[in-house]
Amino acid sequence: MAQIGYSKKVMEHFLNPSNVGTIENSDGYGKVGNPVCGDLMEMYIKVKDDIIIDIKFKTFGCGSAIATSSMVTEMVKGMHIDDALKITRDDVADELDGLPPRKMHCSNLAADALHEAIKDYKRKKEKKSP
Ligand code: FES
Repeated sequence: MAQIGYSKKVMEHFLNPSNVGTIENSDGYGKVGNPVCGDLMEMYIKVKDDIIIDIKFKTFGCGSAIATSSMVTEMVKGMHIDDALKITRDDVADELDGLPPRKMHCSNLAADALHEAIKDYKRKKEKKSP
């Protein structure tokens, strides 16, 4: 298989992604589209005491989007939501030992969908509190 420009880690996450799927009754849900290519990403989180205890994603994106989402879900499991909000697409790409420059836009989907899911969780939490 051609692996031009992709690190070994990207290929591993693309071929064997972690945390694919959905979470029923999730505490936060984020959906974003990529303006560059039109691909879509959905992210679901389960949160306890502001810690992400479970996370799943579903995407209609390319291999890089799958690899970056898989990576980001592994990175944030067990993390406080405020720390997870600070994760950028560059952090994810670094963790994967880099992405080819023309595929960097793909990693936006993973980071943005995660941020949207956390914001959704925070909105719901605010509504619940008196
Ligand atoms: Fe669309 Fe990568 S080409 S997410």
